[in-house]
Amino acid sequence: MVTTFRKLVSVLLILISLTLVTAKSRHFSRTLSPSSQKLRKEKLSHLHFYFHDIVSGKNPTAVRVAQAAMTNHSPTLFGVVVMIDDPLTMEPEPSSKLVGRAQGIYASASQNETGLLMAMNFSFMEGKYNGSTLSVLGRNAVLSTVREMPIVGGSGLFRFARGYAQAKTHTFDPKTGDAVVEYNVNVFHY
Ligand SMILES: *[C@@H]1O[C@H](CO)[C@@H](O)[C@H](O)[C@H]1NC(C)=O
Ligand SMILES: *[C@@H]1O[C@H](CO)[C@@H](O)[C@H](O)[C@H]1NC(C)=O
Ligand SMILES: *[C@@H]1O[C@H](CO)[C@@H](O)[C@H](O)[C@H]1NC(C)=O
Repeated sequence: MVTTFRKLVSVLLILISLTLVTAKSRHFSRTLSPSSQKLRKEKLSHLHFYFHDIVSGKNPTAVRVAQAAMTNHSPTLFGVVVMIDDPLTMEPEPSSKLVGRAQGIYASASQNETGLLMAMNFSFMEGKYNGSTLSVLGRNAVLSTVREMPIVGGSGLFRFARGYAQAKTHTFDPKTGDAVVEYNVNVFHY
């Protein structure tokens, strides 16, 4: 009985000391110097690629996942939500070199003109950018010649990214709804 009690006490003591040790090494917040994160000089990069939004055929890369009761009566398809995993290529031809994918959603968020809410990540697989991502969140008035959307962040080589993307429709097939969109991205990162 006594030995069990002693064992229990020693286990408790070990647990308490472990908690103290880990409490010492953990913190909720602290100040870091940018150099400790290897953040030396901010640079500005330009990326250029083509976005293929394929809604038709057997292998669409953009699929409607939700809509409102009124969506099909709305001239702007207000309320439709489309999930995308669109290829990004070097040239306008779909068979040209794949540099990444645009993954996320777009949704019709405007009742009176064609305006999409875009929430997507560009996931790159080309060269040194392989595995790095950029996050886009913005409004896309697809009938305007050039649309601008903010780059709100990134990962990998694009940590701390901020900038903007300009989208310009290269081709749009009104029969199928498929589109190829040219993207020019200017982004600050380290
Ligand atoms: C974009 O990537 C971030 C980080 O990986 C993730 O949290 C977010 O859900 C992604 N957004 C979309 C729209 O896929
Ligand atoms: C959009 O159109 C509807 C119906 O035509 C109208 O009632 C509404 O005021 C318009 N909204 C804007 C922001 O123009
Ligand atoms: C990108 O990285 C993945 C995983 O790290 C690797 O399998 C793939 O071959 C790389 N692709 C290119 C084009 O370097």
